[in-house]
Amino acid sequence: MINTETQLLGLLGNPLEHSFSPEMHNKAYEKTNLNYLYLPLEIEEDNIEDVLKGIKHMKFIGFNVTIPYKLKIMKFLDEIDPLAKKIGSVNTVKISQGKLIGFNTDGKGFVKSLVNYSKINVSSSKFLLLGAGGASRSIAMTLADRGAKKIFISNRTIEKAEELSNETNDKVRSCCSYVDNNDMVKMKEITKKVDVIINTTSVGMYPNTEECPLDKNFLLKKHLVIDIVYNPIKTRLLLEGEKKGCSIQNGLGMLVNQGAEAFEIWTGEKAPIEEMKEIINNIMKNK
Ligand code: ATR
Repeated sequence: MINTETQLLGLLGNPLEHSFSPEMHNKAYEKTNLNYLYLPLEIEEDNIEDVLKGIKHMKFIGFNVTIPYKLKIMKFLDEIDPLAKKIGSVNTVKISQGKLIGFNTDGKGFVKSLVNYSKINVSSSKFLLLGAGGASRSIAMTLADRGAKKIFISNRTIEKAEELSNETNDKVRSCCSYVDNNDMVKMKEITKKVDVIINTTSVGMYPNTEECPLDKNFLLKKHLVIDIVYNPIKTRLLLEGEKKGCSIQNGLGMLVNQGAEAFEIWTGEKAPIEEMKEIINNIMKNK
Protein backbone atom coordinates (compact mmCIF):
# COMPACT_ATOMS: atom_id res chain seq x y z
CA MET A 1 0.00 0.00 0.00
CA ILE A 2 1.55 3.29 -1.09
CA ASN A 3 0.30 6.26 0.94
CA THR A 4 1.53 9.51 2.46
CA GLU A 5 3.47 7.56 5.09
CA THR A 6 5.50 5.66 2.49
CA GLN A 7 9.24 6.23 2.93
CA LEU A 8 11.13 6.56 -0.35
CA LEU A 9 14.44 4.99 -1.37
CA GLY A 10 16.06 4.59 -4.73
CA LEU A 11 18.97 3.77 -6.97
CA LEU A 12 20.77 6.57 -8.73
CA GLY A 13 22.74 5.59 -11.83
CA ASN A 14 22.63 5.22 -15.59
CA PRO A 15 21.76 2.84 -17.20
CA LEU A 16 19.75 0.87 -14.64
CA GLU A 17 17.90 -1.69 -16.74
CA HIS A 18 20.07 -4.61 -15.53
CA SER A 19 19.93 -3.79 -11.84
CA PHE A 20 18.34 -6.26 -9.42
CA SER A 21 18.23 -3.75 -6.56
CA PRO A 22 14.70 -2.27 -7.06
CA GLU A 23 13.14 -5.74 -7.22
CA MET A 24 15.22 -7.11 -4.35
CA HIS A 25 14.41 -4.20 -2.02
CA ASN A 26 10.72 -3.78 -2.92
CA LYS A 27 9.88 -7.48 -2.60
CA ALA A 28 11.72 -7.64 0.72
CA TYR A 29 9.70 -4.66 2.06
CA GLU A 30 6.49 -6.26 0.81
CA LYS A 31 7.28 -9.58 2.50
CA THR A 32 8.12 -7.90 5.78
CA ASN A 33 5.24 -5.38 5.69
CA LEU A 34 7.48 -2.35 5.61
CA ASN A 35 6.04 0.81 4.11
CA TYR A 36 9.02 1.63 1.88
CA LEU A 37 9.26 2.10 -1.88
CA TYR A 38 12.56 1.74 -3.78
CA LEU A 39 12.67 3.54 -7.13
CA PRO A 40 15.07 3.27 -10.07
CA LEU A 41 16.33 6.85 -10.62
CA GLU A 42 18.03 6.85 -14.01
CA ILE A 43 19.42 10.36 -14.34
CA GLU A 44 21.86 12.36 -16.46
CA GLU A 45 25.12 13.57 -14.94
CA ASP A 46 24.33 17.25 -15.49
CA ASN A 47 21.21 16.89 -13.34
CA ILE A 48 22.75 15.24 -10.24
CA GLU A 49 22.77 18.44 -8.19
CA ASP A 50 19.15 19.35 -9.02
CA VAL A 51 17.97 15.79 -8.34
CA LEU A 52 19.66 15.81 -4.92
CA LYS A 53 18.03 19.13 -4.05
CA GLY A 54 14.63 17.71 -4.94
CA ILE A 55 15.19 14.44 -3.09
CA LYS A 56 15.91 16.35 0.14
CA HIS A 57 12.41 17.86 0.00
CA MET A 58 10.55 14.57 -0.44
CA LYS A 59 10.06 11.52 1.77
CA PHE A 60 13.41 10.00 0.78
CA ILE A 61 15.38 8.49 3.68
CA GLY A 62 18.27 7.51 1.42
CA PHE A 63 19.39 5.97 -1.84
CA ASN A 64 21.99 3.75 -3.45
CA VAL A 65 24.41 4.98 -6.07
CA THR A 66 25.79 2.90 -8.90
CA ILE A 67 27.80 3.22 -12.12
CA PRO A 68 28.79 5.82 -13.28
CA TYR A 69 28.13 8.08 -10.26
CA LYS A 70 29.87 6.39 -7.30
CA LEU A 71 32.69 8.96 -7.44
CA LYS A 72 30.85 11.88 -8.98
CA ILE A 73 28.25 11.98 -6.18
CA MET A 74 30.88 12.64 -3.51
CA LYS A 75 31.27 16.38 -4.05
CA PHE A 76 27.54 16.91 -3.48
CA LEU A 77 27.44 15.20 -0.06
CA ASP A 78 27.48 16.92 3.32
CA GLU A 79 29.40 14.17 5.14
CA ILE A 80 31.28 11.03 4.10
CA ASP A 81 31.96 8.04 6.32
CA PRO A 82 35.75 7.64 6.93
CA LEU A 83 36.00 4.21 5.25
CA ALA A 84 34.06 5.39 2.16
CA LYS A 85 36.43 8.36 2.00
CA LYS A 86 39.43 6.02 2.01
CA ILE A 87 37.82 3.74 -0.59
CA GLY A 88 37.12 6.85 -2.65
CA SER A 89 33.56 5.98 -3.68
CA VAL A 90 30.05 6.01 -2.26
CA ASN A 91 27.28 3.51 -3.03
CA THR A 92 24.85 4.39 -0.22
CA VAL A 93 23.55 7.77 0.96
CA LYS A 94 21.49 8.35 4.09
CA ILE A 95 19.39 11.50 4.37
CA SER A 96 19.29 12.70 7.94
CA GLN A 97 17.89 16.09 9.01
CA GLY A 98 18.33 17.41 5.49
CA LYS A 99 21.96 16.26 5.31
CA LEU A 100 23.32 13.79 2.74
CA ILE A 101 25.73 11.32 4.35
CA GLY A 102 27.73 8.94 2.14
CA PHE A 103 28.80 5.36 2.87
CA ASN A 104 30.29 2.46 0.95
CA THR A 105 28.66 -0.90 1.71
CA ASP A 106 30.32 -2.95 -1.07
CA GLY A 107 33.31 -4.02 1.03
CA LYS A 108 31.19 -4.36 4.19
CA GLY A 109 28.68 -6.52 2.31
CA PHE A 110 31.51 -8.66 1.02
CA VAL A 111 33.02 -9.18 4.48
CA LYS A 112 29.63 -9.85 6.07
CA SER A 113 28.92 -12.51 3.47
CA LEU A 114 32.42 -13.99 3.86
CA VAL A 115 32.11 -14.24 7.63
CA ASN A 116 28.50 -15.46 7.71
CA TYR A 117 28.88 -18.19 5.11
CA SER A 118 32.34 -19.53 5.98
CA LYS A 119 34.47 -20.30 9.00
CA ILE A 120 37.00 -17.65 8.03
CA ASN A 121 38.37 -15.33 10.67
CA VAL A 122 39.56 -12.19 8.84
CA SER A 123 42.35 -11.30 11.25
CA SER A 124 44.01 -14.69 11.03
CA SER A 125 43.63 -15.10 7.25
CA LYS A 126 45.71 -14.34 4.18
CA PHE A 127 43.93 -13.19 1.03
CA LEU A 128 44.71 -13.04 -2.69
CA LEU A 129 42.66 -10.47 -4.58
CA LEU A 130 42.53 -10.93 -8.35
CA GLY A 131 42.01 -7.50 -9.93
CA ALA A 132 42.60 -3.91 -8.83
CA GLY A 133 39.49 -2.02 -10.03
CA GLY A 134 36.66 -0.42 -8.07
CA ALA A 135 35.34 -3.63 -6.50
CA SER A 136 38.81 -4.76 -5.47
CA ARG A 137 39.39 -1.35 -3.89
CA SER A 138 36.33 -1.61 -1.63
CA ILE A 139 37.21 -5.17 -0.63
CA ALA A 140 40.95 -4.52 -0.03
CA MET A 141 40.32 -1.44 2.12
CA THR A 142 37.56 -3.14 4.13
CA LEU A 143 39.57 -6.34 4.71
CA ALA A 144 42.54 -4.20 5.83
CA ASP A 145 40.21 -2.21 8.10
CA ARG A 146 38.94 -5.47 9.64
CA GLY A 147 42.47 -6.58 10.45
CA ALA A 148 43.34 -8.98 7.59
CA LYS A 149 46.66 -10.73 8.28
CA LYS A 150 47.89 -10.29 4.70
CA ILE A 151 46.41 -9.16 1.36
CA PHE A 152 48.11 -9.86 -1.97
CA ILE A 153 46.71 -7.90 -4.91
CA SER A 154 47.35 -9.21 -8.43
CA ASN A 155 46.36 -7.50 -11.65
CA ARG A 156 46.88 -7.56 -15.39
CA THR A 157 47.99 -3.91 -15.22
CA ILE A 158 50.63 -4.11 -12.49
CA GLU A 159 50.70 -0.32 -11.87
CA LYS A 160 47.10 -0.44 -10.65
CA ALA A 161 47.85 -3.28 -8.22
CA GLU A 162 50.85 -1.34 -6.93
CA GLU A 163 48.78 1.83 -6.47
CA LEU A 164 45.97 0.04 -4.63
CA SER A 165 48.40 -1.87 -2.43
CA ASN A 166 50.31 1.32 -1.50
CA GLU A 167 47.15 3.31 -0.87
CA THR A 168 45.65 0.62 1.35
CA ASN A 169 48.90 0.37 3.32
CA ASP A 170 49.03 4.16 3.76
CA LYS A 171 45.37 4.93 4.42
CA VAL A 172 44.18 1.88 6.35
CA ARG A 173 46.84 -0.57 7.60
CA SER A 174 50.10 -1.89 6.29
CA CYS A 175 49.17 -5.44 5.22
CA CYS A 176 49.22 -5.41 1.38
CA SER A 177 51.65 -6.51 -1.32
CA TYR A 178 51.14 -6.60 -5.08
CA VAL A 179 52.03 -9.02 -7.84
CA ASP A 180 51.83 -9.13 -11.63
CA ASN A 181 49.22 -11.76 -12.51
CA ASN A 182 51.36 -12.84 -15.50
CA ASP A 183 54.26 -13.80 -13.23
CA MET A 184 53.45 -17.49 -12.87
CA VAL A 185 56.29 -18.29 -10.47
CA LYS A 186 55.19 -15.62 -8.00
CA MET A 187 51.50 -16.38 -8.44
CA LYS A 188 52.15 -20.04 -7.60
CA GLU A 189 54.20 -19.10 -4.56
CA ILE A 190 51.50 -16.71 -3.28
CA THR A 191 48.59 -19.08 -3.83
CA LYS A 192 50.41 -21.58 -1.58
CA LYS A 193 50.51 -18.97 1.18
CA VAL A 194 46.90 -17.73 1.10
CA ASP A 195 43.67 -19.05 2.65
CA VAL A 196 41.17 -17.13 0.51
CA ILE A 197 41.23 -16.32 -3.22
CA ILE A 198 38.81 -13.64 -4.44
CA ASN A 199 38.10 -12.80 -8.08
CA THR A 200 37.07 -9.16 -8.47
CA THR A 201 37.65 -9.00 -12.24
CA SER A 202 35.01 -9.53 -14.90
CA VAL A 203 36.90 -12.56 -16.25
CA GLY A 204 34.46 -15.50 -16.45
CA MET A 205 31.36 -13.32 -16.46
CA TYR A 206 28.61 -14.08 -18.99
CA PRO A 207 29.07 -14.43 -21.99
CA ASN A 208 32.77 -15.34 -21.50
CA THR A 209 31.94 -18.21 -19.17
CA GLU A 210 34.91 -20.42 -20.17
CA GLU A 211 37.48 -17.85 -19.02
CA CYS A 212 39.25 -18.31 -15.69
CA PRO A 213 41.13 -15.46 -13.92
CA LEU A 214 43.67 -17.84 -12.30
CA ASP A 215 45.59 -20.93 -13.48
CA LYS A 216 43.46 -23.81 -12.16
CA ASN A 217 46.62 -25.69 -11.13
CA PHE A 218 47.22 -23.07 -8.43
CA LEU A 219 43.98 -23.93 -6.63
CA LEU A 220 44.46 -26.04 -3.52
CA LYS A 221 41.97 -27.90 -1.36
CA LYS A 222 42.62 -25.57 1.59
CA HIS A 223 41.42 -22.49 -0.33
CA LEU A 224 38.10 -20.73 0.08
CA VAL A 225 37.47 -19.49 -3.47
CA ILE A 226 35.14 -16.51 -3.93
CA ASP A 227 33.98 -14.97 -7.17
CA ILE A 228 32.14 -11.66 -6.94
CA VAL A 229 30.63 -12.49 -10.34
CA TYR A 230 27.11 -14.01 -10.03
CA ASN A 231 26.24 -14.52 -13.68
CA PRO A 232 26.85 -17.42 -14.16
CA ILE A 233 26.05 -18.64 -10.63
CA LYS A 234 29.13 -20.90 -10.79
CA THR A 235 31.93 -19.36 -12.80
CA ARG A 236 34.75 -21.42 -14.33
CA LEU A 237 36.93 -20.40 -11.35
CA LEU A 238 34.37 -21.78 -8.87
CA LEU A 239 33.88 -24.97 -10.90
CA GLU A 240 37.64 -25.56 -10.95
CA GLY A 241 37.81 -24.84 -7.23
CA GLU A 242 35.01 -27.29 -6.56
CA LYS A 243 36.87 -29.99 -8.51
CA LYS A 244 39.86 -29.46 -6.20
CA GLY A 245 37.67 -29.78 -3.11
CA CYS A 246 37.80 -26.08 -2.21
CA SER A 247 34.95 -24.29 -0.43
CA ILE A 248 33.35 -21.84 -2.87
CA GLN A 249 31.13 -18.72 -2.74
CA ASN A 250 29.59 -16.77 -5.61
CA GLY A 251 28.82 -13.06 -5.84
CA LEU A 252 25.21 -13.28 -4.66
CA GLY A 253 26.27 -13.10 -1.01
CA MET A 254 28.03 -9.77 -1.59
CA LEU A 255 25.10 -8.45 -3.63
CA VAL A 256 22.54 -9.28 -0.95
CA ASN A 257 24.70 -8.16 1.96
CA GLN A 258 25.66 -4.78 0.47
CA GLY A 259 21.91 -4.17 0.09
CA ALA A 260 21.27 -5.36 3.64
CA GLU A 261 24.02 -3.09 5.00
CA ALA A 262 22.43 -0.16 3.15
CA PHE A 263 18.99 -1.03 4.55
CA GLU A 264 20.41 -1.05 8.08
CA ILE A 265 22.09 2.34 7.54
CA TRP A 266 18.80 3.87 6.29
CA THR A 267 16.41 2.37 8.82
CA GLY A 268 18.49 1.42 11.85
CA GLU A 269 16.64 -1.91 11.73
CA LYS A 270 17.83 -5.38 10.85
CA ALA A 271 17.43 -6.10 7.13
CA PRO A 272 15.13 -8.96 5.98
CA ILE A 273 18.21 -10.70 4.67
CA GLU A 274 16.76 -14.20 4.18
CA GLU A 275 13.90 -12.72 2.13
CA MET A 276 16.37 -10.66 0.09
CA LYS A 277 18.46 -13.76 -0.58
CA GLU A 278 15.43 -15.79 -1.63
CA ILE A 279 14.28 -13.02 -3.98
CA ILE A 280 17.68 -12.81 -5.67
CA ASN A 281 17.83 -16.61 -6.01
CA ASN A 282 14.41 -16.57 -7.68
CA ILE A 283 15.40 -13.77 -10.03
CA MET A 284 18.52 -15.75 -11.02
CA LYS A 285 16.54 -18.97 -11.52
CA ASN A 286 14.13 -17.19 -13.88
CA LYS A 287 16.87 -15.61 -15.93
P1 ATR B 1 34.89 -2.93 -11.09
O1 ATR B 1 34.44 -1.57 -10.65
O2 ATR B 1 33.77 -3.89 -11.35
O3 ATR B 1 35.95 -3.50 -10.21
P2 ATR B 1 36.85 -2.00 -13.01
O4 ATR B 1 37.19 -0.89 -12.07
O5 ATR B 1 36.69 -1.68 -14.45
O6 ATR B 1 35.51 -2.72 -12.55
O7 ATR B 1 37.96 -3.16 -12.82
C1 ATR B 1 38.00 -4.30 -13.59
C2 ATR B 1 39.14 -5.22 -13.14
O8 ATR B 1 39.09 -6.40 -13.94
C3 ATR B 1 40.53 -4.63 -13.35
O9 ATR B 1 41.39 -5.14 -12.37
C4 ATR B 1 40.92 -5.18 -14.73
O10 ATR B 1 42.29 -5.26 -14.97
P3 ATR B 1 43.13 -3.98 -15.58
O11 ATR B 1 43.33 -3.05 -14.44
O12 ATR B 1 44.37 -4.58 -16.08
O13 ATR B 1 42.25 -3.40 -16.66
C5 ATR B 1 40.33 -6.57 -14.62
N1 ATR B 1 40.07 -7.18 -15.93
C6 ATR B 1 39.07 -6.91 -16.78
N2 ATR B 1 39.15 -7.68 -17.89
C7 ATR B 1 40.26 -8.47 -17.73
C8 ATR B 1 40.87 -9.49 -18.52
N3 ATR B 1 40.38 -9.87 -19.70
N4 ATR B 1 41.98 -10.09 -18.02
C9 ATR B 1 42.50 -9.73 -16.81
N5 ATR B 1 41.95 -8.77 -16.02
C10 ATR B 1 40.86 -8.14 -16.47
